[in-house]
Amino acid sequence: MGSSAIACCILLSLFSVALAEYVDVRVRGVVSIASTDDNFICATLDWWPTDKCDYNQCPWGKAGIFNLDLKNKTLINAVKAFNTIRIRIGRSLQDQIIYNFGYGVKDCNQIMKDGFGPFLFRGGCPQPKRWDEIHEFFNQTQAKLLFGLNALHGKKTDPKDKILWVGDWDAKNARDLMEYTISKGYPVESYELGNELCGSGVGARIEAKQYAKDMKKLKQHVTELFPDGKQPKVLGPGGSEPLYSFLVVLITLFKLHSFQGAALVAFAATIGNFLQGWDNATIAGAIVYITDDFDLGSSVEGLVVAMSLIGATVITTCSGAISDWLGRRPMLIASSVLYFVSGLVMLWSPNVYVLCLARLLDGFGIGLAVTLVPVYISETAPSDIRGSLNTLTQFLGSGGMFLSYCMVFGMSL
Ligand SMILES: *[C@@H]1O[C@H](CO)[C@@H](O)[C@H](O)[C@H]1NC(C)=O
Ligand SMILES: *[C@@H]1O[C@H](CO)[C@@H](O)[C@H](O)[C@H]1NC(C)=O
Ligand SMILES: *[C@@H]1O[C@H](CO)[C@@H](O)[C@H](O)[C@H]1NC(C)=O
Repeated sequence: MGSSAIACCILLSLFSVALAEYVDVRVRGVVSIASTDDNFICATLDWWPTDKCDYNQCPWGKAGIFNLDLKNKTLINAVKAFNTIRIRIGRSLQDQIIYNFGYGVKDCNQIMKDGFGPFLFRGGCPQPKRWDEIHEFFNQTQAKLLFGLNALHGKKTDPKDKILWVGDWDAKNARDLMEYTISKGYPVESYELGNELCGSGVGARIEAKQYAKDMKKLKQHVTELFPDGKQPKVLGPGGSEPLYSFLVVLITLFKLHSFQGAALVAFAATIGNFLQGWDNATIAGAIVYITDDFDLGSSVEGLVVAMSLIGATVITTCSGAISDWLGRRPMLIASSVLYFVSGLVMLWSPNVYVLCLARLLDGFGIGLAVTLVPVYISETAPSDIRGSLNTLTQFLGSGGMFLSYCMVFGMSL
C-alpha cells in the first residue's frame, strides 16, 4: 500500500514536471475568509490533584486548579505579560466536577483516587470561595476565561460499553454555576461542553446525536440567562473526534433546529384543514336558521350545503396541476384568501344567491387546503418527523369539527 502510493506520487510528479508550464497566481489580499482574534494564545489549567501520577512520576504537584496558589505574584505577572491570554479551565476531570451552588447539590465530595470514574479519580467539588479566588485571579490578570462544563453530570455508563455514557445531560448544576457567576458579575468568555467526549473519547464518550442534544440545551440556558449581546460563546465538541461524529453533531444540531421550524410550518398550514372541519360542521348547524331566514325549499337548502362540496370538487380537478406550475405556497395563500373573503361574504349575504356564491368560493378554499396541505407538509418536513406531522391534518380537521359542534350546541341552548 505504502510503496504503491509512493510510486504513484513519483509518477504524478514526473507527469507534472513533463507538463510544467508557467502559471500566474494572483492572491487578492483584501478579501479575508477567516480571522484570528488578538487573544490567540491559550493555556489550560487542569483539575488534577497532587496525587495524580503516571509512570512513577507525580508531575502535577500544586499546578492543578484545586491547589494552585492563585495569589502568587510571579504567576500573576507572568499571565499578565501575555496581554492577553485565554485560559481554559477544565480538561480530563471537568466532566465529573460538581459545582457547589444552589440547593440540592448531591455528591459534593473531595476529589480522591480510588480507581473509579473515567480517569480513576472520583469526586471534585470546589467550594464557592475557590470560585471567587479563581475569578479574582482572572480579574487581576485580565485573562479571558474559557470554562469547561461537566457534560457527564446526570449520565450513566452503558452496561455493555463502560466508556460510553448515556442519558441526557443534567444542566441544573451548570446553570447554578452560571447564575452564581452572573450574580457576582464575573465575566466568562465562553463555556465548553465536555472534554473530548465526542467520537471515540479518551476516558469517556457520548454518542454524537446525544452530544448535539446536550449542546442545544446548553445554548438554551445561555440564551435564557444572559442578555443579548452579552452572551458567552458556547463551544464544542472538543477533542480529536473523527470527522464523522463531528458531522453527525452538526447535522443533528441542524435537524433539531429545523424540526421546530418544520413543526411550526406544518401547524400553520393545517389551519386550512381546521377551517375545513369547522366549516363542514358549522353549516350543519347553521342550515336550520338559514332555511328559516331565507324561507328556502328543501332542494335549495341542499344546494346551499352542497355548494362548498361542488366548489371543492371542481377545484380539486386542477389544483394539483396548478400547484405544480405555481408552487404550493401561492396556492395555499390563495386558499386562505378564499376562506377569508368567502367568510366575510357569507356573513354579509343579503340573499340566497350571494350565499351560494360565497359557499362556492369557500369550497374552492377547502379544495385547495385539503389537497395541498398534506403535500406541502411532506415536502417541507424532515424525513424523521414527516409521518407525525402529516397526522396533524386529520387531527386539526376533526378538531375543527368538534369545536364547531360545541359552538353550535352552545348556541342552541
Ligand atoms: C510563586 O511561585 C513560584 C514558582 O512556583 C515560586 O518560586 C515562588 O516562591 C512563589 N512566590 C510566592 C510569593 O509564593
Ligand atoms: C475587577 O477589578 C477591577 C479593578 O481592577 C474592579 O473595579 C472590578 O470591580 C473587578 N471586577 C470584578 C467582577 O470583581
Ligand atoms: C362533512 O360533513 C358531512 C356531513 O355533513 C360528512 O358526510 C362528510 O364526510 C364531511 N366531510 C369531511 C371531509 O369530513
